[in-house]
Amino acid sequence: MQTVAAQLIIGYAPPHMVAADDRRRAAQLRRIFGDDTHPEPSIIIGASDDRGMMLGGAVVEPFVSDELISKEPDAARQFATTHRILAALFVLPEARGSGIGRELLSEAAYWALPHGGRYLDGFVDDRNNSADFYRRSGATVVGHNTGLPARRPTNSELSHYPGIDGTWFYVDAWRMHQGKINCARCRDVFEFVDEDGGYLLCPNCGTPEAK
Ligand SMILES: CC(C)(COP(=O)(O)OP(=O)(O)OC[C@H]1O[C@@H](n2cnc3c(N)ncnc32)[C@H](O)[C@@H]1OP(=O)(O)O)[C@@H](O)C(=O)NCCC(=O)NCCS
Repeated sequence: MQTVAAQLIIGYAPPHMVAADDRRRAAQLRRIFGDDTHPEPSIIIGASDDRGMMLGGAVVEPFVSDELISKEPDAARQFATTHRILAALFVLPEARGSGIGRELLSEAAYWALPHGGRYLDGFVDDRNNSADFYRRSGATVVGHNTGLPARRPTNSELSHYPGIDGTWFYVDAWRMHQGKINCARCRDVFEFVDEDGGYLLCPNCGTPEAK
């Protein structure tokens, strides 16, 4: 599987490097959140057939940055709470073209929601030319080598890193998974109000989420 994954995933890292990366991110999350509950260092989502054979997968990670933690700890906490990164998404070649990639993206966005998450941000390297896949699967795709726009509640743009060629995209998981998010106060299902950047409103107790 490792050989196949290395061929399919641009930027593939073997398990020992992934584990080291996870430990580093767990330490960053402890610096940001201390003992408070916080997002997992990574979430792996798998797609399999009826016999349990793996067909594809996705990896979701919280947005953490050492620089932000040192310089602006409050912003680091807000970003780590609200933004997740789609670190990988792949479907085995023989399983492509039947909606598995779209389903994985949707699941990845769903798993961005716990602990206050809203956005799933990602980057497509131009070598695999699959920005259209994201566009057709419900993501907002921005221009080539253009960073991500400011979105509430962080309200800060995310710059493009110089030196890599590609396209950024994001999924607003509140929008994509509206009807599945519950009000923390009364547990009724939030409504997604599509104005002023989009926000959640509880129809029962009127509580807005991060307005
Ligand atoms: C990109 C990838 C995940 C797509 O998976 P998939 O299961 O074939 O995609 P789906 O069948 O769910 O396709 C969803 C939509 O995207 C379109 N699409 C899929 N792959 C596409 C591509 N490479 N270019 C343009 N459009 C694509 C499909 O036509 C479909 O659109 P439609 O329903 O409007 O016709 C898969 O090709 C892959 O693993 N590629 C290699 C790794 C990679 O590029 N990962 C993404 C970047 S990190």
